Amino acid sequence: MYLTAEEEKILKGDKGLVKQKALEVVVKVGEALGAEKLVKVTNAHVSGISYKNIGDAGLELIEELLLKGGTFSVPTSLNPAGMDLKLWNLMNLSEAYVEKQFKIINCLRSMGAKPLLTCIPYLINPPNLGEQVAWGESNAILYANSILGARTNREGGPLALFEAIAGRAPYVDLRVDECRRPTVHVVCRFCKRSRFSRLSGLIGFHIGSIVGSGIPYISGVHKCIDNDYNLRLFLAGLGTAGGIGLGLIERFSPEAPKEVPKGIEKLEISDEELKDSYERLSTDIERPDAITLGCPHLSKLEFRKVIETIRSRGKARRRIIAFLPRTMIDSSLVTNLRRYNLEVYNDTCMVVCDLKAMGIESVIVDSAKAAYYLSSQGYEVQLMSFNDALRCAFE
Ligand code: F3S
Repeated sequence: MYLTAEEEKILKGDKGLVKQKALEVVVKVGEALGAEKLVKVTNAHVSGISYKNIGDAGLELIEELLLKGGTFSVPTSLNPAGMDLKLWNLMNLSEAYVEKQFKIINCLRSMGAKPLLTCIPYLINPPNLGEQVAWGESNAILYANSILGARTNREGGPLALFEAIAGRAPYVDLRVDECRRPTVHVVCRFCKRSRFSRLSGLIGFHIGSIVGSGIPYISGVHKCIDNDYNLRLFLAGLGTAGGIGLGLIERFSPEAPKEVPKGIEKLEISDEELKDSYERLSTDIERPDAITLGCPHLSKLEFRKVIETIRSRGKARRRIIAFLPRTMIDSSLVTNLRRYNLEVYNDTCMVVCDLKAMGIESVIVDSAKAAYYLSSQGYEVQLMSFNDALRCAFE
């Protein structure tokens, strides 16, 4: 692999041991992927920081990086952690868990990370078209690549961490313009507003399941996506079932081709096929313990809809639990909302926190990604649209 003089110096240890080791990892990964050089990244988003997911081994790695003088070379934000950093006492967690989660965040903060603790960094600090970034978290990667036209591969948690320290990533795959061309054409033929095609996350999940990997050019889906939240649910679903890091979506992607490329495989999907994926993700629940919203995190706009519903309908009959970034809510509001059966958490999400510790075994969700991961964690899950889920909270 070609390395610049500066990179050679880092590899010799001129910029410290941790940066040296981080660059060694990045170079090794690059060589394995066939990269001919590295590229500087302008910022990073690191996932895999919940103590529930990374456990003691992850904590020890992060502590060691800090102890040996590791710092981030580029502005670095963090994905949701395993608890709300202010309301953790309402989440029924053990003292050891809380202490270790704080240690993880504090170490990363000391290395220079900004603890946004959200999976929608693209709404807070959106990268530009063509900008090279190092992002973990599949929904964020898909939004950055597909909607903003930024460049990142699907960097797993540890790799994004090392790239953030090294300030560089292998120049390969989705970072290279020529590798961002569609490999398969997915044509969506849905009856507008049918039961399944109203679930944009389900459509994304289904496409992810049948395509698996590569770059789908997706046409016709815009008819089922009428706002940015549904687009985010769609992308989160798309990234769940396979390894897709870029979808070229008619009307939404700046790099979507004007004409369907010739010679690529064509797949047509209809409502009937969505039914199979729906049955894989959802079961009917008579008495759900809670309605959980915000996978990906809600923005101010969706949260306002939740508040407006509470204002017009009063106290909900079932627990509504909303997850959103701390920067998008006035925290003085949060405790007052509990009297309406609305619980709001920042810094964490329904998948990486411990819902069972909060007395929840069955949930209604509006996200196919949440349905997939919560089912795999043993929860009973029913998938609905955002509006239907909210309505259920009052029935
Ligand atoms: Fe975000 Fe957690 Fe879902 S990180 S996309 S809310 S699984």
